Amino acid sequence: MLLKNKKFVISAAADGIGFAISKLIVENGGVVYLSDIDQKKINKIDKNKKFKNKIFATQLDSNNHKAVKDYLSKLKIEKIDGLINNVGIAGPTKYLENISVDEWISTIDTNLTSHFYFTKYSIPLLKKNKSGSIINLSSTAGLFGFPQRTPYAASKWAIIGLTKSLAMELGKYKIRVNAICPGSVKGERMQRVISAKAKLLKTTSLKIKKEFESMTSIPSFVSKDDIASMIIFLLSDHATNISGQSIAIDGNTERMI
Ligand SMILES: NC(=O)c1ccc[n+]([C@@H]2O[C@H](COP(=O)([O-])OP(=O)(O)OC[C@H]3O[C@@H](n4cnc5c(N)ncnc54)[C@H](O)[C@@H]3O)[C@@H](O)[C@H]2O)c1
Repeated sequence: MLLKNKKFVISAAADGIGFAISKLIVENGGVVYLSDIDQKKINKIDKNKKFKNKIFATQLDSNNHKAVKDYLSKLKIEKIDGLINNVGIAGPTKYLENISVDEWISTIDTNLTSHFYFTKYSIPLLKKNKSGSIINLSSTAGLFGFPQRTPYAASKWAIIGLTKSLAMELGKYKIRVNAICPGSVKGERMQRVISAKAKLLKTTSLKIKKEFESMTSIPSFVSKDDIASMIIFLLSDHATNISGQSIAIDGNTERMI
């Protein structure tokens, strides 16, 4: 019960890593205010009695500035203990000269600018709490070069800059800001990324998967729960003096292809 009665906002969390984080917050006694663009996934969470009064789910596009502002100003709670900026799309798998302007802008908007929106309107709620924890989802693509995924890598490097700068602005309010850098996470999204890379490089998905696994000292993919466990620790009072850090959960990436 590391997070008993604490309240957290998390973006794009009706599925994937975000939902794993949300469930672990609830298991640790916390309350989650999650949003996601997908109405069907929101309905599924709403129908699950297990989450009644524990997860409050709302349909919301993280890229819609006005909608994010309205959502956070009408949350019906005075303060929050933490914000998890989880939203992030894979973006195109292409050589840069073939990436369209729309593909570039939508990746940067979703992966970076939406974090700005959520953070901007959450800071007053964190300041009222007189302490708190902001977690930004970056990636190992925010620590290494990642060819054929340039907008994704650029957005994830930007998240590290955002994290380090904001940690300096908010330290005096006892608000901590850290970035999490997951490696390849088991699941549908990585399968899609691997197929796209195999198609582009005219090879098989199996070969790309093996190459991805060989990039880390511990040669396997990580799980959503590995990411969630670290985030629960960083949200808790055990991490009171940890700020401005970029923490990789990846089996130690040595190189990226
Ligand atoms: N999966 C990985 O291997 C991996 C690796 C490194 C970093 N990450 C990062 O972790 C975070 C979560 O990744 P994931 O794999 O769980 O994502 P995911 O692709 O599984 O998507 C999670 C949710 O995001 C929602 N979503 C997408 N666009 C949205 C928008 N504009 N507004 C609101 N909701 C939206 C989807 O409906 C979905 O429910 C992302 O920032 C991602 O870049 C993931």
